[in-house]
Amino acid sequence: MNFPGLWRNASPAADERENTGRLTARERLERLFDPGSFVEIGSQVLSRNRELIESRRAAAGDGAITGFGAVNGQTVYAYAQDVSVAGGSLGEMQAAKIVKLIRLALDAGAPVVAFIESGGARIQEGIDALGGYGNIFYWNTRASGKILQISAVMGACAGGAAYSPALNDFIFMVKGKGKMFVTGPDVIRSVTGEQITAEELGGAETHGTVSGVAHFTEDTEISCVRRIRELLDYFFCRRKTSERPDVPASGDGRLRTCVPDNIRRPYDMYEIIRCLTDGGTFLDYMKGYAPNMITCLARVNGMTVGIVANQPMTLAGCIDINGADKAARFVRTCDAYRIPVVSLVDVPGFLPGVGQEHGGIIRHGAKMLYAYAESTVPKVTIIIRKAYGGAYLAMGCRELGADYVFAWPQAEIAVMGAEGAADIIFRHMEPEEKEEKKRAYVEEFSNPYAAAKRGIVDEVIDPGDTRRILIRTLEALAPSTKEAERKRHGNIPL
Ligand code: HXC
Repeated sequence: MNFPGLWRNASPAADERENTGRLTARERLERLFDPGSFVEIGSQVLSRNRELIESRRAAAGDGAITGFGAVNGQTVYAYAQDVSVAGGSLGEMQAAKIVKLIRLALDAGAPVVAFIESGGARIQEGIDALGGYGNIFYWNTRASGKILQISAVMGACAGGAAYSPALNDFIFMVKGKGKMFVTGPDVIRSVTGEQITAEELGGAETHGTVSGVAHFTEDTEISCVRRIRELLDYFFCRRKTSERPDVPASGDGRLRTCVPDNIRRPYDMYEIIRCLTDGGTFLDYMKGYAPNMITCLARVNGMTVGIVANQPMTLAGCIDINGADKAARFVRTCDAYRIPVVSLVDVPGFLPGVGQEHGGIIRHGAKMLYAYAESTVPKVTIIIRKAYGGAYLAMGCRELGADYVFAWPQAEIAVMGAEGAADIIFRHMEPEEKEEKKRAYVEEFSNPYAAAKRGIVDEVIDPGDTRRILIRTLEALAPSTKEAERKRHGNIPL
């Protein structure tokens, strides 16, 4: 039977794109959803702009495919901009489609995934296009903290096309293809005289390592879509059957040897994370940005957790401005979507320096304090080695709301390192007496027992037993009783 009105908004340049190894908007959606599950809505929506209609550049669907389907059996709403229709630019009707989709997703309590590739506000539609972005930003913000919003930047994105992702919880970018900027290289050149390519200005590498705009960067479009499905799985399925049973009764020997005896020697915190998580796997959030602060999603005996950890290999694990912003946003993301937070602490302090102070480390560090103190998800903190001063407080300490705090035997919890502290308080003494006092001081305070005596640390544990204790603790906390205290909040970009 022939259905005359039923036709797809076939993109004129689709064949051309396939030859370049790029996916079309429809192919992106097909790869996101479980086979055969996608239901399109709004395929006949058309721009009302006379100029576009008369020049035959208006196309059914108005440059975006919108609809819903299933990802691992769970409902997800999604849209993909079609760059072959006026460069994927956003006009009044495309905006209305996207707003409708976000509102439907809100009603359904389902995530929204956006494949973005757009020249921004459609120039021909002027103020209607601008208003369209205004409406999208409004609904992005209204939905924030209620439903997950994920953007994947698959091509060049200018102006509003960069800002809507920025209001989402997660931004993915495809290397060599995704670009985001508010004003492009040509405008920058004419205004400031600076010469820069689009890739250098707003490519995945730039946003993944320098600006911190992108949370995940992927090599290909296909791996990007796969990673989005993986991310969704962490949120959809918070309690999986573990791929790895508990830990051997004898404990995990690797955990007993991975931290060097010499407190000044760095080690790779990822080794510890791999020992604690199921299959040693995790999803690294903002991996290339502020690597002194690790933030990742992982599973511990099947339970989804967010891990925040200092990385002693970079800046000795100090908290700097970028690391503080990264951790604060991550903790707030976990809290908004009810993911428990596990903090692994080895932090000598906030990064000292004029640049840090003038850049506002006080303001940025405060975001971490706020994020931890505000959160009501289960929180478990494990002090691996150093936990000094304000940085100790900022890493999910007991006083800021950790439910359980464990420490490894080599941990030190203090205002500052014991040697440095002794140098200050005994500075007026004669050298010999000073050395003796210092030795005694270091012996007394270079351990976690002073904190354990006051109950600030709940238990000093055998490092090899950490995974078992973490599993039991998270299980005990799973039916969180803090729902009544919960402060609902959106997920403002920090
Ligand atoms: C209408 C647009 C368009 C736009 C691109 N096109 N952007 N049409 N409105 N905003 C059209 C082009 O005319 C062209 O049509 C086709 O899309 C492909 O564009 P190219 O430039 O050939 O593609 P490319 O070289 O890949 O460059 C992509 C681009 C560039 C970097 C995005 O097109 C660009 O700079 N566009 C303008 C960006 C911009 O200033 N947008 C307004 C932002 S203001 P034909 O018919 O020739 O194939 C904004 C307001 C909201 O968004 C801000 C909120 C904060």
